[in-house]
Amino acid sequence: MNAPIPRDIPLPLPAPEGLLEILLIVSFLVHIVFVHLMLGGSMFSLVCQIKGLKTPDYEKLAYRIMQTVTVNKSLAVVMGVAPLLIINTLYAPQFYASSALIGDMWMAVIPMVTLAFLLAYVHKFWWNHFINIPELHIGIAALETALFLFIPLIFMTNVNLMLFPEYWPQVKGFFSAMLLPNVLQRYLHFISAAVLFSSLFFVWWSGRKTFLQEVQFSKLRVIDVRRFFYAFAFGATIVQILTGLVVFVTLPAQGMSWRFTLLLMLGGSSALPAIWWMWQNLTSPGHLIDDNLKRIIACFACAAIIMGIARHDYRENALADHKTAIAEKTANYMAAVKEAGEHAQLDAKDQESKISAPGESAFNQNCAACHHATLPTVGPALQEIKEIYAGDSAGIVAWTKAPGKKRPDSMQMPGFVQLSDDELTAISQYILSH
Ligand code: HEC
Repeated sequence: MNAPIPRDIPLPLPAPEGLLEILLIVSFLVHIVFVHLMLGGSMFSLVCQIKGLKTPDYEKLAYRIMQTVTVNKSLAVVMGVAPLLIINTLYAPQFYASSALIGDMWMAVIPMVTLAFLLAYVHKFWWNHFINIPELHIGIAALETALFLFIPLIFMTNVNLMLFPEYWPQVKGFFSAMLLPNVLQRYLHFISAAVLFSSLFFVWWSGRKTFLQEVQFSKLRVIDVRRFFYAFAFGATIVQILTGLVVFVTLPAQGMSWRFTLLLMLGGSSALPAIWWMWQNLTSPGHLIDDNLKRIIACFACAAIIMGIARHDYRENALADHKTAIAEKTANYMAAVKEAGEHAQLDAKDQESKISAPGESAFNQNCAACHHATLPTVGPALQEIKEIYAGDSAGIVAWTKAPGKKRPDSMQMPGFVQLSDDELTAISQYILSH
């Protein structure tokens, strides 16, 4: 693998890995449900507002839809904290690397989310202020929706880049990461899921008993509204299947496995009966079959859960080699650190024991220039001195205070009257013990 291998900081996980993985899948699914409702709501409010220019009842519908958006967006954000933290914990080296590589745009998520929320509140709370300037109101709704649509693209680009370290060296910022071969189709798959889930939500929402009271339509019938949403749900399902196939075919091979493929087939086929039930409700004359909605939602919930598990499966497969390589590198590094630490400790001990050898430093300062351990230099070697004075440290002290003249070839050794008896005794003992 030609991918950069960062070194990890080997900290223990705060919980067993399997538990964190289950929490990741569950919390991500909960988060994404609200993201879908927020995105879809924002899109539907915009579409209905535009339709409302011709058919005023749709403007009333747009207003009611917008009430749901601000609630769902708050839930989406709150529920997003857990999966984000778990991703950070389980995939720290990969997620850190990909976040840094798309750094500017990743940071821009915060101001963008803030702006999108403020626009959503302006859109919703000042509805009546815009009564005479619908273009401006629609403009605000469009900007809000565009931001809501763009932010998930940043997240998707990041979690996609995280999976493929081999692309890291070539990626230059957000846009090059966004244009990697498998991002945009994944994004389309995601957007069509948002349309699908929110359409079904609004089919349910517009079927509540209090709905008609809330919207106060003058002409529009509830069944028309519900069919309007059913039509979107049906269309989005078709787009889901098509984009899903493209995503599958273009996924890089390293994450593929039989388990993953089987999960996808299972997830995909569990959604299939829903198509028939949606078709029934779109085309049946007169009334809608309410039980169909429950069945449809059950089908898609199954599909979403299975796809969520499959998604995790792919991620684990895709990163398996890289994770092993990181673990290996980190282990080697830690072993090297440990060894270096041991060396440093030994060196320190060595130093200590040398310094603590009594007389050694005084010998080095005063005598070592002329007395080598084994070779005769200016004066005789310590070996020789040891032989002459075997055990007689007082003799050495006496000589050193007032050296005589023994060896004809040697110079006169200088006397050391400046050293105390204690120091000289220590030196002489050091010489004898050497
Ligand atoms: C400037 C050089 C010099 C220094 C410094 C020096 N010595 Fe000497 N030392 C000599 C020489 C030269 C001799 C040989 C003298 C001779 O044989 O006449 C000698 C000989 C000795 C002898 C042998 C005496 C014997 O009976 O043969 C001892 C013991 C000795 N030195 C101890 C010391 C001690 C201890 C110190 C440090 C406190 C020291 N020396 C520092 C030059 C030096």
